[in-house]
Amino acid sequence: MRSFAGRDILSLKDFERQEFFRVFDTAALLEPIARDRHTTDMLKNKVLVTAFYQPSTRTRLAHEAAMLRLGGHVTGFSDAKMTRAGDWYQESIKDTVKMLEFYGDVIVMRHFQKGAPAEAAKWSSIPIINGGDGWGEHPTQILTDLYTVLVARKRIDGLKWVAVGDMRMRTMHSLGYALTQFDCPITFVGPGPDALFPGSPDMRMPEEYKNDFKQYSLNYREAESVEEVIADADVILVEPVIQPDYTQARQEASKDKSLTPKEFKITRELLATKAKSDAILLHSLPRMDEIPLDVDITKWSRYWQEAFNGVVMRMALLALVLGKTE
Ligand code: CP
Repeated sequence: MRSFAGRDILSLKDFERQEFFRVFDTAALLEPIARDRHTTDMLKNKVLVTAFYQPSTRTRLAHEAAMLRLGGHVTGFSDAKMTRAGDWYQESIKDTVKMLEFYGDVIVMRHFQKGAPAEAAKWSSIPIINGGDGWGEHPTQILTDLYTVLVARKRIDGLKWVAVGDMRMRTMHSLGYALTQFDCPITFVGPGPDALFPGSPDMRMPEEYKNDFKQYSLNYREAESVEEVIADADVILVEPVIQPDYTQARQEASKDKSLTPKEFKITRELLATKAKSDAILLHSLPRMDEIPLDVDITKWSRYWQEAFNGVVMRMALLALVLGKTE
């Protein structure tokens, strides 16, 4: 297995099966620190740099919390407009990263351009963690989700997945790549063109990713409605279909946000009448109306555990790429 020390975490396409388990084992080892709200001095001389060119609640703060739990320090920016990359100069990724590498020991970057963290990694002497890039990937989120499933079900192999939402979404691509390493069939349920309103975009899995998934022997199919396929699912992973354009730095909400069509909505009634009793419902959040609030208190929902595991997973990744768990 390749060492994680000094490594970039850019895509789950790069991940081998044993590497997933190495990450999960490390997360399990560090989990008690987060659970007991303790801190350690494992990363006491290390600094995390956050470079967020798009809004975030969970990804940035979970990385920061993880670093603080491990005794490290944090610097960085959450609003690129207040940096030279987001003002008149529009400073390049290269020039920005050639500065940031001297300010810390690892960088987590979120960007509206697909491939921006990979571009940063070309120039950086310290590891780059992809915190979500445009319609590209979101590897740390899907590692969190797989770990959540592993904790809940004690296994990943053999579970059937249904993924519902906008398939242009970066989590969906990381999920497809991750499941190529497991015995997990998956059904993607995304809206076709005009499904939400006249002129709404095609939100089914892009051909580029389907071609990759075929090449990597992912057992996948597509469906038009979650109702058709939910009965078979052990894991239901949901993302919004009403959401901003992830290729923009920021998008303000319009007053007349549309509602999620029932084909892409997980209601309490649907779960009670059609889902397996022990199925797990994941949502990385933020959500719109695709999972109504009354689902939160059902036995299927696992998104608050997912949120907790988001800190644990980032603790594991920081410890690994900074070489503290070799
Ligand atoms: N799930 C997730 O990436 O959330 P944020 O956009 O708040 O980071």
